[in-house]
Amino acid sequence: MTITRRSFIKSTAIAGAAGAVGFPHIWIKDSGLAWAAGNEIKVGVLFSLTGTTAVVEKSLHNATLMAIDEINKAGGINGMKITPVVEDPASDPATFADKANKLVLNDRCVSVFGSYTSASRKAVLPVFEKRKNLYWYPTLYEGRECSKDVMYTGAVPNQQQKDFIPWLVKNHGKKFYLIGSNYIYPKEENNVCKILLQQLGGEVVGEEYVPLGHSEFGSVLNKFRETKPDVIFSTVVGDSVIALHKQYKAAGFTPDKMPMASLTTSEVEIAAMGGEYAAGHYTSAPYFMSHQSPENQKFVENYQKRYGKDAVTHFVSEPAYFQIYLFRQAVEKLGKGDITPINIRDAAGGLEIMAPQGRVKVDPDNLHCYLWPKIAQAQADGQFKVIEQSAEWVKPEPYWAYPGQSCTKDGLKGA
Ligand code: ACM
Repeated sequence: MTITRRSFIKSTAIAGAAGAVGFPHIWIKDSGLAWAAGNEIKVGVLFSLTGTTAVVEKSLHNATLMAIDEINKAGGINGMKITPVVEDPASDPATFADKANKLVLNDRCVSVFGSYTSASRKAVLPVFEKRKNLYWYPTLYEGRECSKDVMYTGAVPNQQQKDFIPWLVKNHGKKFYLIGSNYIYPKEENNVCKILLQQLGGEVVGEEYVPLGHSEFGSVLNKFRETKPDVIFSTVVGDSVIALHKQYKAAGFTPDKMPMASLTTSEVEIAAMGGEYAAGHYTSAPYFMSHQSPENQKFVENYQKRYGKDAVTHFVSEPAYFQIYLFRQAVEKLGKGDITPINIRDAAGGLEIMAPQGRVKVDPDNLHCYLWPKIAQAQADGQFKVIEQSAEWVKPEPYWAYPGQSCTKDGLKGA
């Protein structure tokens, strides 16, 4: 982690200057159909309430609705209430695409907030690019994407893996077993992990992908026993996280000898499995519920008031929450007649906000966010203890692992 603290940049000057820079685009304003009608502005909320990733996505849905409610109770945006149109895509990418089409075309939502898996984001991407609408994606993901129709508020690999892998090698050893769910996100993250391990003289002793929703890890655990890795690097998602942790413990493995290091295990999966199954394992992310800040205290208190005293926040529900406030700030800058998805996107570039994790900023070039990476260890009470954290926010570099390529205002360069 970087240890030099640079002076803190004040928000307003930067937000004003960068926000004025727009993307070149072709956008035909359909003047007959206003995006903000009467005193309401409609947005889509597209998180799975059923299926294998509902264990995570329900909390993204909850955090999104809480932020919308807070803003509406405080008077809305320039006097307009935000009206959420909720759909359940049922953890199925094809259903995500169908529902996205409905939200954009039938419901005339000016933005849609949605998705946990990269598979579902990839499925809806053509809808937003074709219709010139705007998708707000709160989840950590593999990077290597440069769309002008998506706002990315979760971490990319240079904000999760860049410091995590060297830390794991230094503290636990060089032999890694890579276990992931079988889709684009784990495969791309593992490619980044392999690049880092190669630089560090590390070794991959196993690499395996299990189907989404997989719950029988017996043969995988046998391979852990045979190959004796120093670290299990896990990008398993959804219900499988719970099954993997429970079966790992039942097999007699312990994190002091062979820890699991994850980019996807958060407080919400731990709440579903029980803290004793996660204690001792590691996760890297920009936000943990235990983070001490007035903004986080308010976020957690409000969340538990609304959803129950045992409800937890985590590193995907936090961006799901703060991205609604970024949306508010962007729309606030526009006159009612100028509210279009593309104008919202252009107004959002360069915006800063005090989020529960700290001050975050939308990079106006690539529409990803500056975030605060941390490495933490799960405790038996279900919370994370932060071991290291970046001394400064980290610029998002979605093509960091692919030298010569970068996402710019004009699109992907160097491909
Ligand atoms: C993910 O699929 N981006 C977790």
